Amino acid sequence: MSTPATLLERSWHVVARSGDVGPGPVAVELLGRRLVVVRLDGEVVVLPAACPHRGTDLALGTIVARGDGSPGLQCPYHGWTFDRHGVCTFIPSMPDGPLPQAASTTSCAAHERDGLVWASLDAGADPARVPALPIDVPGMRTILGEPMVWNTSAGRHVENILDLGHFPFVHPGTFGCPEAEVVASHHVERGEDWIAADVPVVTRNPDGADGPMYPGLGPLVTLGYHYEVTAPYRITIDFEFPDGMRRALHEVVTPNRHDQCTIHWRLLVDDRLRSDDADELAFAHAVFAEDRPIIESQPPGLPLDAGVEVQVAADRLAVAYRRMLRELGCTTADRDRRASCRERV
Ligand code: FES
Ligand code: CO
Repeated sequence: MSTPATLLERSWHVVARSGDVGPGPVAVELLGRRLVVVRLDGEVVVLPAACPHRGTDLALGTIVARGDGSPGLQCPYHGWTFDRHGVCTFIPSMPDGPLPQAASTTSCAAHERDGLVWASLDAGADPARVPALPIDVPGMRTILGEPMVWNTSAGRHVENILDLGHFPFVHPGTFGCPEAEVVASHHVERGEDWIAADVPVVTRNPDGADGPMYPGLGPLVTLGYHYEVTAPYRITIDFEFPDGMRRALHEVVTPNRHDQCTIHWRLLVDDRLRSDDADELAFAHAVFAEDRPIIESQPPGLPLDAGVEVQVAADRLAVAYRRMLRELGCTTADRDRRASCRERV
């Protein structure tokens, strides 16, 4: 890996679920780079996917014990074998060595936490900075969603989640209603690498299995939305209903490349709600299905420069999100096709 320079290269990103990394290698893409995730001696290891010899995809390889007998990842083409640091430990065609130094590659930083495999392109990234996710939140149960791959940038996806003006137009089939066309004024709080906001949102009382989800609350309900976004791509929305019930959506979004992201998400549902997990997931999927074609129709890069695209008061959260990313050193290469993928958000 070259010296990591950008916020995105230095950050920790989810590249797989722990359960996805079994006995064989797994191909992933992060910031436009093809990587391979393997488990060697029980520990997750993330390496560049291209074999230094001829560029073959190491995700097609196998785990073997060659050289000194410890497990390594063997390239499928000529059998060169790499250890957990990316060092080439064995070349079958020259068993007595010496092994050329250029035969080795450099591992990425990797860390497993909360059932997810995190990686950073900065080999020296501190595992203590892998973020804590909302696990075991008192009074809430957690429902894990299957990861989704969207054909848009991570930035566009996150901005869609915090976009307040689209509900009546994109979500009439789930919770949107014309009464919400005007976005309530709200203040966005800003920290070093996070923004937060509270805003009331009028929504249709969603359909449950047998009639309205909140039978006592009439056809329209005003929810308290609490947003928290942490740079670059973690977002939580906490929805508080008028009867005090709470739901939340938490996402951590992986920038696979400038035009594709993977969304790792979970729902948090008030313990007092007796809903089925399957119904909760089905409602979330219905909402995502309404958003997805709209977001995938946008140019994928999220423009960060002020003056690109048009901002109105309803976009205050999006404007604050873009400003935060810009101030943290992200750049938009959307209009510069020569720039490398990794600089796009
Ligand atoms: Fe990998 Fe030759 S291409 S060993
Ligand atoms: Co939406």
